[in-house]
Amino acid sequence: MNDIERISTGIEELDKILKGGIPKGFVVAVTGEPGTGKTILCLHFIARGLRDGEPGIYVTTEESRESIIRQAEQFGWDFLEAMAQGKLIIIDALLREQRDEWSLSRLTIDELIGMIIKAKKTLGYGHARLVIDSMSAFWLDKPAMARKYAYQVKRSLYKWNLTILMTSQYAITTSDAFGFGIEHVADGIIRFRRFVRNGELRRFLIVEKMRQTEHDLRMWEIKIINGIGLKLVKPVEFRREDFALPRRVIERILRASEEKEKEF
Ligand SMILES: Nc1ncnc2c1ncn2[C@@H]1O[C@H](COP(=O)(O)OP(=O)(O)OP(=O)(O)O)[C@@H](O)[C@H]1O
Ligand SMILES: [Mg+2]
Repeated sequence: MNDIERISTGIEELDKILKGGIPKGFVVAVTGEPGTGKTILCLHFIARGLRDGEPGIYVTTEESRESIIRQAEQFGWDFLEAMAQGKLIIIDALLREQRDEWSLSRLTIDELIGMIIKAKKTLGYGHARLVIDSMSAFWLDKPAMARKYAYQVKRSLYKWNLTILMTSQYAITTSDAFGFGIEHVADGIIRFRRFVRNGELRRFLIVEKMRQTEHDLRMWEIKIINGIGLKLVKPVEFRREDFALPRRVIERILRASEEKEKEF
């Protein structure tokens, strides 16, 4: 157990609940509703690698490269500098009309994998961190392909000495994963959630799975702080009223089942 090599997520408290970090070489799914912190966690992960001298590859499908650079800057990370030094490659899969060497011309899995391997070769030997933000973009019009695509990415990149975070979104209406399938293929799942309580948006994070390791099983409230980034605040203590049905509803259910019994 202790001989597993782990790498820091860039968030101290998250490393702690993962008993030291993400096992090197893992593919971890980062899932959750919009605006919950997935991209910001990915930025922490890349920035931490850069700090430790590990190169990074960031594939962005929902935001432009400039948007990613600006967001990183708000937390004190100079991605432009890292790019200039040849330590970071941001593959832009959004602005396909403004093409350069690191833009994806088509949103296909084969093209994605090809571009990632090209980036890894450019960065050179050794371990690198990879973020694919998000995978959902590749199966938007064909959600049934989620598992196959995630598996294809994992298998094709297996030998390239990468530790991978891949994000996927949840449908707002149903809370269903667009990418169910990615969760089974991934070695770990970090799940973000959000609730509005007393008129205030609150965000949470839970490690739903991390193979080969013990990890904290609680849901943690998180905060996103300008200039600092994502912080874990405290584990959630559920009160009974958070999950129990209202008395009125319980009484109605009991009455209905009594009626049913009378019928027999
Ligand atoms: N500089 C900042 N200071 C404080 N909070 C910020 C800052 N920048 C972003 N946020 C918060 O973080 C949220 C965005 O988080 P993030 O981009 O990680 O979400 P996401 O889960 O990737 O969403 P999506 O699925 O839409 O990509 C914003 O809605 C905002 O509330
Ligand atoms: Mg995002």
